[in-house]
Amino acid sequence: MVNNLNDRPIGVFDSGIGGLTVAAELHKRLPAENLIYLGDTARVPYGTKSVAAVNRYALESALFLLNRNVKMIVVACNTVSAVALPRLKMLLSVPMIGVVEPGVRAAVKSTKNDRIGVIATPSTIASKAYQTRLQEALPNATVFGRSCPLLVPMAEEGRVDGKIVSQLLEEYLKSLRKKGTDTLILGCTHYPLFKKTIGEVMGDTVTLVDSAETTAEQVEATLLREGLLRTHGPGMVKAYVTDMPRQFDKVARRFFGAPLGKVERVTLGD
Ligand code: DGL
Repeated sequence: MVNNLNDRPIGVFDSGIGGLTVAAELHKRLPAENLIYLGDTARVPYGTKSVAAVNRYALESALFLLNRNVKMIVVACNTVSAVALPRLKMLLSVPMIGVVEPGVRAAVKSTKNDRIGVIATPSTIASKAYQTRLQEALPNATVFGRSCPLLVPMAEEGRVDGKIVSQLLEEYLKSLRKKGTDTLILGCTHYPLFKKTIGEVMGDTVTLVDSAETTAEQVEATLLREGLLRTHGPGMVKAYVTDMPRQFDKVARRFFGAPLGKVERVTLGD
């Protein structure tokens, strides 16, 4: 029997294109689910903006998705998850999952020496969301945070490997390596694209945590628990952006791993 409530889409939003790495994992794990993706490309990056601005943008994105009748919202942006998710959860009653908590859980499971590194945007590191949650989950943990502000623009330009990327990552990561971290959280949607070079710089003994996978697991568990899982497919993916749909479409393939249908431009906050 078709349950119409379950056929409603899952809303996924990010400051721009990076959240497609999370959408890709969701699509892989839950191919029957319909997904609506919203990238706020007009206002990206969020990672260098004030808390007040990120809160406002996040609420506008969530309301846009709710107007499209989504059954759940996945905040596929580390900066929004770190800075604005608790407030969003207070304001809206739809099930909502961010990417910080799944990353924390995966890191706690992986670490053997309780020394965990987190790399993320300046706003995420300044919020201390990862540091706080890791220490709550693992009181003995020593957490080292490092912001890597140049990685987002480089990923957007498609520069994810080569000499300059290796040198930059060496600069960003050497202190974490010296601290003996055995687990490194990639706390930004764009960083999984640098996984290969980050792995080379950190060495084989360090586990890289990409929260996209664990987020998809948590979404599945929540849908099951709430009786909202869609079991017949295939699901459709629809993408909206707030600016530059063509540019988004060009870069999207690298993040999503497959072409998206027609990308539509929308205005938020009307
Ligand atoms: N999506 C953001 C994050 O995961 C990175 C891009 C931005 O700064 O807006 O933190």
